[in-house]
Amino acid sequence: MKRLALMPGDGIGEEVMDSAQAVLACLRDKFDLALEWERLPWPSTRWHHEHNEMMPADALDQLRNYDALLLGALGDPGPSSDKSRYRLPDGISLSPLLQFRKGLDLWACERPARLLDGAPQYLADARAKDVDMLVIRENSEGEYVNQGGRLHPGTAMEVATQLEVFTRAATERLIRHGFRRAQERLQQRREQGRERQYLCDWADAREAQVCLITKRNALPAWGEMYTEVFELVAREFPDIGVHHELVDAACMKFVQSPWQFDVVVASNLHGDILTDLAAVLAGGLGVAPSCNINPDDRRLPALFEPTHGSAPDIAGQGIANPSAMLLTTAMMLEWLGERPASEALRQAVAKDLVNSKDKPSRSTTQITEAITACLPD
Ligand code: NAD
Ligand code: IPM
Ligand code: MN
Repeated sequence: MKRLALMPGDGIGEEVMDSAQAVLACLRDKFDLALEWERLPWPSTRWHHEHNEMMPADALDQLRNYDALLLGALGDPGPSSDKSRYRLPDGISLSPLLQFRKGLDLWACERPARLLDGAPQYLADARAKDVDMLVIRENSEGEYVNQGGRLHPGTAMEVATQLEVFTRAATERLIRHGFRRAQERLQQRREQGRERQYLCDWADAREAQVCLITKRNALPAWGEMYTEVFELVAREFPDIGVHHELVDAACMKFVQSPWQFDVVVASNLHGDILTDLAAVLAGGLGVAPSCNINPDDRRLPALFEPTHGSAPDIAGQGIANPSAMLLTTAMMLEWLGERPASEALRQAVAKDLVNSKDKPSRSTTQITEAITACLPD
């Protein structure tokens, strides 16, 4: 029996977790899944309100006992005038997320962005329907090490420092993982008889590509190390094309010609920014899944969470799109080795997108019911 921890968190996290829980129950019956789950009241700003902390001190130890973790979203930066909300600074409410990623050594964050039929296509260029990329974000260090501080806070002499740390070991494992994923994706496309619409104008154009993102022109210390490691690791994968983009140019090209990207490897912060952009290219945050994994070590539970946040602007209204959470749930099932259930869920979400194209907007419950109805008997 595999055990899941369901952590709704804040805002629309609760609503999309209801959806995931309902769909998981349905899949468990249909596919005889040996799965059980517990819904945890933490981490959340509500828990903080009651306990003065986002989660119990031994939270990580408790979570180590599960096989996988599913998180809704964290953060309630809502208006301080709204007393029904437990408003907290993001620095406090989001810290569990970063503690999970680092404490459970989940060093790769994978965010696939494939524009499914029926999902909103925001770019006018018809080729944008071919968007199918996987952004792999470094998840353990870089700009997110939270080292630094404020000297003389609030005074005219104030100095704020925020250190970035990049290690060769973390760079190498991340980049090698990127190449492996590019190989797997190529293999999968071949099995499914799909081809990338080959519109790539890069020098090293191949059927499978890895694009490295840096800002090595302005941040040369880590940018050059990333570049050198990339060149070394690339030699192990002669069939995979390589490309490098500076992050600012990458933003431009994500919009101008996103179909050119296959696997994209980026630092923690660059990956964060690029994946909100990639989410929009693939239909928006309402359909953007994400996972935090340790590809080398499956003993610790991986953490699955949609790319979106707690969406305080729509929280509590029952209108959040649960598709991102359900595609994330499908990623989790695949990671747990439940391939047929995972694939059935992916296909159900995809089918629902086609069925609901150009129809009036629906509630979270209506979308959940429609997706459930698309699951095989
Ligand atoms: P957000 O992702 O919560 O929302 C951005 C916009 O997208 C909003 O207009 C929102 O309504 C919309 N949106 C997001 N998910 C949606 C869905 N499933 N269905 C329909 N619309 C959706 O980002 P934000 O507003 O910048 O941040 C809100 C809070 O969430 C902040 O506290 C932020 O720090 C936090 N956050 C948490 C996570 C996480 O827990 N993984 C990720 C990002 C942001
Ligand atoms: C994400 C989020 C987080 C991040 C925040 C909430 C700390 O934006 O998962 O994309 O920056 O990693
Ligand atoms: Mn983000």
